[in-house]
Amino acid sequence: MVSSEFFEKAGGSETFRLLVERFYEGVAADPILRPLYPEEDLAPAAERLTLFLIQYWGGPSTYSESRGHPRLRMRHAPFVIGVAERDAWLRHMRSALDSLDLPADIHDRIWNYLTMAADSMRNSMA
Ligand code: HEM
Repeated sequence: MVSSEFFEKAGGSETFRLLVERFYEGVAADPILRPLYPEEDLAPAAERLTLFLIQYWGGPSTYSESRGHPRLRMRHAPFVIGVAERDAWLRHMRSALDSLDLPADIHDRIWNYLTMAADSMRNSMA
């Protein structure tokens, strides 16, 4: 469990909204990632990721109220995620995260989680 104190220190919902907004600007133009998204409109996917991260990092649990248990590995099973997909995902996350100018300890804690989580989403050796 991440404390609500961490959430506030990180800048609250606004931080995660901005992070995902900038991340999806990268995804929208990415030739590896964009084709994976089933919907034409990326906004609903961005909203789900935003609410998930807000919940994970100690904010309101709106994500689970609307989507249930995250079960992220299962939800990613329909998409082939190998090294190239993981690295592209992390590259856009890294530039989005860096653009927020968060305090170093907050930045690093979020980045460590994202690298671990992205690697655990891999479901292909390719
Ligand atoms: C959903 C791709 C990693 C969190 C999705 C979707 C795709 C995708 C294509 C479906 C879009 C939609 O919601 O309609 C990827 C790729 C990754 C990756 C290529 C590379 C490693 C991650 C990581 C997290 C994450 C590391 C969490 C830290 C989510 C969430 C959803 C989602 C919360 C929506 C789940 C739901 O409620 O349906 N992802 N993802 N993803 N992803 Fe990822």
